[in-house]
Amino acid sequence: MRVAVSDSQYFHLQTMTTSYIFRVIENGSLGHVYYGKKIPIKDKYPHLTLVEERGFEPYNDVNNTASQPSLMLYEYSSYGRGDFRHPAYQVSLENGSRISELVYDSHQLLPGKKKLDGLPSTFANDEDAITLVIKLIDPLIGLVVHLSYTIFENQDVIVRSTHFTNESSKDLKLLRAMSLQLDLPNSEYDFIHFSGAWLRERYWNKTPLRSGIQSVDSLRISSSPQQNPFIMLANKETTEDYGKVYGFNFIYSGNHLEQIEVDHFGVSRILVGINPLDFSWTLSPGDSFQTPEALHCFSSEGFNKMSQLLANFYHEHLVSPIFSKKERPILINSWETTYFDISTTKIKTLADTAKDLGIELLVIDDGWYGHRDNDHTSLGDWTEDKTKFPEGIAHIASYVHSIGLKFGLWFEPEMVSQESDLYRSYPDWRIEVPNRQPCLGRQQFVLDFSRKEVVDNIFSQMEKIITETKLDYIKWDMNRHITDLYSLTLSNNKQQEFAHRYILGVYNLYERLIHAFPSILFESCASGGGRFDLGMMYYAPQAWTSDNTDPIERLKIQYGTSYGYPLSMMTGHVSASPSHQTGRKTSLTFREQVSYFSVLGYELDITRLDSTAYRQLKEGIDFYKSYRNLFQYGTFYRLLSPFNQNVVSWQVVSPDKTKSVVARYQILSEANPIPATLIFKGLDNNKSYKIEGLDEIFTGDELMNAGICLPLSPKAGERVINVSDFKSWLIVVKEYQPVGLVTKNC
Ligand code: GLA
Repeated sequence: MRVAVSDSQYFHLQTMTTSYIFRVIENGSLGHVYYGKKIPIKDKYPHLTLVEERGFEPYNDVNNTASQPSLMLYEYSSYGRGDFRHPAYQVSLENGSRISELVYDSHQLLPGKKKLDGLPSTFANDEDAITLVIKLIDPLIGLVVHLSYTIFENQDVIVRSTHFTNESSKDLKLLRAMSLQLDLPNSEYDFIHFSGAWLRERYWNKTPLRSGIQSVDSLRISSSPQQNPFIMLANKETTEDYGKVYGFNFIYSGNHLEQIEVDHFGVSRILVGINPLDFSWTLSPGDSFQTPEALHCFSSEGFNKMSQLLANFYHEHLVSPIFSKKERPILINSWETTYFDISTTKIKTLADTAKDLGIELLVIDDGWYGHRDNDHTSLGDWTEDKTKFPEGIAHIASYVHSIGLKFGLWFEPEMVSQESDLYRSYPDWRIEVPNRQPCLGRQQFVLDFSRKEVVDNIFSQMEKIITETKLDYIKWDMNRHITDLYSLTLSNNKQQEFAHRYILGVYNLYERLIHAFPSILFESCASGGGRFDLGMMYYAPQAWTSDNTDPIERLKIQYGTSYGYPLSMMTGHVSASPSHQTGRKTSLTFREQVSYFSVLGYELDITRLDSTAYRQLKEGIDFYKSYRNLFQYGTFYRLLSPFNQNVVSWQVVSPDKTKSVVARYQILSEANPIPATLIFKGLDNNKSYKIEGLDEIFTGDELMNAGICLPLSPKAGERVINVSDFKSWLIVVKEYQPVGLVTKNC
């Protein structure tokens, strides 16, 4: 791991395969030089920094007509001094000016990585990362900005954040404070983003960059299913396995902006940070503001490699070590099983059946608290519903524990129903603008989590129930987006701090719960996969991928999600057929084989299965258990995409390349189809392999180059279902070791 600082004031940050270079330019500001495949460390790179004076562009050094900011690549750009692109930050002064300009002051190299206070953040020990902090100043207005770059050598990831301090004697107002800026010298890229909606989260979208601004963002105080903060810029020829791609993500769960501006010289400026719309933050003398972290990553070996680097990075440096790399329990969830219709008897019967099937965790979803028989009431009252559970929820928990299952509950901590004791006691705790009726969403209001007393109350209620039930798992839901932004406790000139303060309140509740109950596994959820982001992943290692459990639609959702997030974060449940979301009928096999490629769970009435389905489900659970580590933590490869074809395929390979499972899904049946060959990925060229159900022995290079012809009809051992549409195959590959041959693995 290297950070080289040359005499010519070039900073060269190197990871395993990438170089990131910037420098102090003649007028003192910080200019970007290069980001991409690793290049040698040199004192300077004049061939990369050639800028030729152009007509009609202002210059900020009156003695140097060539000092034209609009021609420069910057590390952290200012507003109003000749660079007309959108800036990384902006401040307004008491005298009304919004102009500032930063120059390099000094830098520091620190081992490891500091945790951010009150925000989710990546972590590393001193051997695994190094942090370069650059101090920039605007001496004329007393603004000090620290840019932080943490280099994670082994994962090819750089994590960035920005820290502002007001060292003047007057108030400064931050109007924009991005976490990351990257100016790339060209714009021959495709912009890939993962946009969608409720029930169709994170679909793959690709558009070529064009002149001007293009972006994804959110103003919903949530990362949102509409536009996920993970984006990529890829060369036109980049595929899953070849070509250059840059990835960006934001470790934050609120309003975000990922923007690319292509300027008149073809430069692409990427900005990632808190959405500046309706954001400002007042810095009184001595005050500071810390942005959330953002990351960038580069792969010259295509999209699969990028996703694998990121998955590895999250497991090593973002997800709590208590859960990262640990096998996650298989659960049964009551929602699509019985919805609000739950009772002591039903839950006990569900638990008994789950136990017999090999399921490990029982989760009571919505409906266990207050008087929650429908979605009109009780949010905010986190005490058990005695009509459904006369002996209490602790009684159920102790029963579930006594038969050897873990126990989990659903909460929606940020919300309040008008029909609730909490609302009756504290009507002014909901978010609303004075004298204006706030919008409703799913019949509910949102609590003002920027207020400490609100977070305190919800914490105490949750703490009580967690303690009474010895809870193992919490599903933290969030089922409406936030409108009517206003907090009764913020002064007028701080109202634009509300959106960020709200998310800080959410993080604060997570911090307190995790601190008090470190062994609880959190699963985040927001009407399905509506808050699927790295801020959440820091607290909740897994997330409900979508309310859409139709396996055909899940192919797109899971495929799209896999670009930016690992399988260990995605939960996938086998639900009923016909699907509750689409009405489509699919076989149990198909549903199982899609859910295996995630953290497996069940969300159907397992107490009413016929004996064939019961047996199949039980065998399926055994099968998943024997490959669970592979499914949750194996190296994931996308083979065939649901976004452009009828056949979809993906594969997981164990880190030591001794095991692999490939799934192939045919959506619609085809008459007289073109024969298909399966080309494997990620195996060891020199190892011998056996495919379950076939007698032949193959070498890795054979399987990865020639592959195998796939039969058109089912064959023994392939776990294939032969209905007209929706066929799926699961192909299990294992290293073959001839009997008698003793190796280290035996
Ligand atoms: C949301 C979640 C579902 C379920 C319901 C309960 O829609 O996404 O999984 O928990 O709320 O109301």
